[in-house]
Order: sequence, then C-alpha cells, then structure tokens
Amino acid sequence: MALKLGILALCLCNTGLAQSAAPRVWNDGALKDWATPIAALGVRPGSFSEQDYYASPEDNYQTYPVYHPAREPKGYWNWLRKQKPKPLVDTSVLRSRQDWVQAGARAFREFDDAFLRSGDPKHIAMARDPANFKGVHLTPQGHVLDRRWVITPKGLEVSSTACLGCHVKVEANGGFQQAGPGNPFPPGIDDIGPKGTLLVDLLFERLFPGDTFQAANWRTFTTPWAADPRVERMKQMSVDEVNHLFNSGDITVFARFNGSPWYQTRIPDLHTLRYSRYIDATGTHRLSGPEDVARYAALVLSADTMSFGSHQFLTDRQRKVLYHAADEVLFAIGLYLMSLEPRRNPDPGPAAQLAAGREVFNRNGCQGCHPPPDYTSGKLTLAAGFTPDEAHPDRGNIVRVTVGTDPGLAMRTRKGTGFYKIPSLRGVWYRPRLLHDGSVASLEEMFNPARLRPDHVPGGWKGPEGTNRGIPGHPFGLNLQAGEKASLLAFLRSL
Ligand code: HEC
Ligand code: HEC
Repeated sequence: MALKLGILALCLCNTGLAQSAAPRVWNDGALKDWATPIAALGVRPGSFSEQDYYASPEDNYQTYPVYHPAREPKGYWNWLRKQKPKPLVDTSVLRSRQDWVQAGARAFREFDDAFLRSGDPKHIAMARDPANFKGVHLTPQGHVLDRRWVITPKGLEVSSTACLGCHVKVEANGGFQQAGPGNPFPPGIDDIGPKGTLLVDLLFERLFPGDTFQAANWRTFTTPWAADPRVERMKQMSVDEVNHLFNSGDITVFARFNGSPWYQTRIPDLHTLRYSRYIDATGTHRLSGPEDVARYAALVLSADTMSFGSHQFLTDRQRKVLYHAADEVLFAIGLYLMSLEPRRNPDPGPAAQLAAGREVFNRNGCQGCHPPPDYTSGKLTLAAGFTPDEAHPDRGNIVRVTVGTDPGLAMRTRKGTGFYKIPSLRGVWYRPRLLHDGSVASLEEMFNPARLRPDHVPGGWKGPEGTNRGIPGHPFGLNLQAGEKASLLAFLRSL
C-alpha cells in the first residue's frame, strides 16, 4: 500500500497536480540568507519571523472593476453590493502549472492593497463621481486600471491595486502592457484611477501610527550611517514640499521604501525578471525561482521590519505585520512573473544592419556583461566606491568592475548593497527609461557622449531639484562612428 501511494504521488508530480498547494512563502529557513548585506554595514536587513508573519490575518479577496459612472454595465452597482467575499486565488480550481500562471496574471492585475482600502461613503462616492475621471485612462470596457471595488467581511470598499498601479505601461490605443515598464502617459492621460481616491494618507496612518506624514516619509528613507541632510530635512518640510519630491511628472521612477527621493529607481519591466539572479536594481534579494518573487511581493506588501543591524527605523508600535497576503496569491504572482518574456520588435531593421550591429556589439566587449541569449549574465557589478571583501556571500555572482553610474542608490540608501545588477537588453526597444534611475530616455541618449557633460539635461528622470546634470558612467560604446552607432542601436532594438 505504501508503495502504491508512493507511485501515485509521483504521478501527480508529473502531471503538475502536485502544485495544488502553494509553498510557505515566508519561512525562516529561506529568509536567513535571502537578502543581500548592506555594503556600509556588512549585515543583511532584518526580517519578521515566520511565526509573527503567519499570526497576522490572511488576505485573499476577489476585487471588481471601477467603471467610469457612465460606462457601468446596467445593474452593476446593485449586483456588486449583494456580493459576498470570495477568494481571488482559489486553489481548489487550479489543476496545472498553466492554471497557476493564469491565476497569477489575474492576481497581479486585480489584487488590491489592504492599506489603501476604505469603506467611507465619502471615498466610495468619489470613485463614482464623473468629475474625478477627467484625463483618466479607461480600458475599452470602460473601467480604470488602478482602483478596484473589494468585498471583504467588512462589506464593500474602494481600494487600489497592489501591483498594477506602478507596474503597467499605458498604450495610446487604450490598451495596456501589464507588468511592463513605467509610463510616460500618452497625451491626454494623466492618471489611471479616479482623482483623489488613491488613499495614501490612510496607508500612512495604518503603517506609521503616531507619525506625521513628513515624519513617516523621513522614517522610510533615513540612513544614519550615511546621513543625507536633504532626507533629514524632510521632517521639517511642508506636506506639499514632500509631495513635490515624488511628483516628477510621470510614473517612470519611484522612491520605494528604503530608497530615497534623491536616488529614485525606475519602474522595471518585469518581463526580463527571469534573466536575473537578483531582485531590484541593486540586487537587494536573491532570485532563484518563483518563491523568491512571492517573498519579495510579501515584503513590499506588508512585511518590511525596516531594521538593519542595530538600526530600527520603526517604533515598537509600528513594527508589526498587520496582515499577510495568502501564500497562493503570492506564489501565483511569482509563477506568472517568472513566466514572462519581453515581446519581440515587430519591425526590426534590415538583416545586414543587424549583422553589422552584432559585430559592433561583440567588438566593444558588450557580450562580456550582456551575453546572449538573455543579454545579461544576471550578475552584479560594483558601484563606484565599493570593494566587497573576498568572503562576500555573493562572491560567485560578482563581476569586480564598476561601470561608474551614479553610486547614490547603491551606496547611500537602505537598498545600498554596493551593487548594480546588469540589466537584460531583451526588450530594450520598448523600454522608456534606461539605467537604474531612469535618467536616460533613449538609446540615442545612452550612446551620446554629450550626456556626460554637467550641462546635459537628462531626457528621463532629472532629480527632484533642477534639470542640468551629467549622466555619468557606462562608458562602453560612447566613441563609435555614426554608422557603427546606427547599426549597434538597430541591433539592440532587435533583441
Ligand atoms: C509604488 C509603486 C510600486 C508598486 C505598488 C509595486 N512595485 Fe514592484 N517595483 C517598483 C519599483 C520602483 C521597483 C524597482 C525597485 C528597485 O530597483 O530598487 C520595483 C521592483 C519590483 C521587482 C523587481 C524587478 C527587477 O527587475 O528586479 C519585482 C519582482 C516587483 N517589483 C514586483 C511587484 C509586485 C508583485 C507588486 C505587487 C505586490 C509590486 N511590485 C508593487 C514599484 C512598485
Ligand atoms: C562591465 C559590464 C558591462 C559592459 C562591458 C557593458 N555593460 Fe551595459 N550595462 C551594465 C550595467 C551594470 C548596466 C546598468 C547600470 C545602472 O543601471 O546603473 C548596463 C546598462 C546598459 C544599458 C541600459 C539598459 C537598461 O535597461 O538600463 C544598455 C542599453 C547597455 N548597457 C548596453 C551595453 C552595450 C551596447 C555595451 C557595449 C558597447 C555594454 N552595455 C557594455 C554593464 C555593462
């Protein structure tokens, strides 16, 4: 009998049925050495224990589209108010790996951020007021991308998406690329959800009880070991001044928790995730499979202790896991994101030019860091000023060269591992921003030596204060003849 059961288990494995349960995403074993040490401290960031994490309430609720009021299907609102809570990811109906990937695609699009929920009739009314939809992108079905109705045991609430709100590229034809790079929005569009309904104040109240908005922001960025007077001044800024730091006019870059408004990171194209060995531009976490992506989603959603060695950035009252997303939601998202590949350029240049471009690529040593077929080795380069010691736990994945791009993010923030990972060049043809800080807006700018000069105006992110500044580093391919450069760019656009 035991033998028979053994065979049965094996058969289930082979048909993929063994995946009917998600792994335990937040587990002490994996967490022990998952994060990359912070260069300036030589320690890995702390984390909540498995026990604390799973002691919090679990979240897995189906959400529903927020339509432009004039486009709501007939009877929708009455129907919606009668709905009961249902799981967003329901493992009982998932049979194959493909089912999981599809469930993950949907979860990535529809999962909402519990910290941004409100059942306040005032907020609900705002999400149904036509005046708040001016300039807002609508899908062909007439709903917005980033606001959802959610039914929890508390009833109907308005909420915002957990992932899609940042990780989406809005197309001029009304479509959108889910998990694509961030946007410069097409003309006429300035938002992806009804105005006034992204309830950031509520999120701050919930995550940082006892703090003003300014103090809470300061808390997410301060680095006592490399004190930045601009960050320290945030506590004294007006709310408008703080908001101004983040509103750089488009959502191509963002100051994520533990980063900095002065060293922002571009919103990456998640279609190249599978080519990387690390997560984030500075390689903050190891990436060896969907579990690591799931864990990263858990971290950014609700499980960041903000503790780094002896530094605790949250008060005892704030350092709590308030809820956790169900493992099946996170794991499905992980499987989905790892299944993605960038789409091919439908209109690559002439074959002869691409061949010439490949020559230029090889002759200039590009393949050393960006080798085919992934066009990245997935490894880490050094930020200027960092020399990891020989025993660094990631030594096997470190290329001991610096490409000399702005070292601020990698050296002066809590994402400061001392590394910049080598991005894949697959899909670079549709990427609106280049380099970790999104300062470069095109391949032409990237390979134009004039970008190094201090009077250059970056085509992409310019920083919160001022426009002129050189974009240093990545000297490769800066001294090409015009013809060589044209071929190289055509080749890059074909990847
Ligand atoms: C507020 C905007 C925002 C939201 C919301 C958001 N992200 Fe991100 N995400 C970013 C930015 C910015 C980065 C780049 C951070 C860095 O490089 O340090 C990033 C990085 C990532 C990465 C690493 C990509 C890479 O190439 O290394 C993954 C994976 C990811 N996000 C998944 C998610 C998932 C899953 C969710 C939802 C649970 C989510 N993100 C929600 C802005 C966001
Ligand atoms: C020593 C390793 C190395 C070599 C050699 C190298 N690169 Fe890079 N490349 C990098 C790193 C690291 C980055 C990201 C730097 C950052 O974000 O600060 C990068 C970024 C890029 C980007 C921007 C991609 C993006 O999404 O941000 C392009 C395009 C690029 N490289 C093309 C090339 C070409 C073409 C060559 C040869 C002429 C080349 N690289 C040689 C390491 C290298």
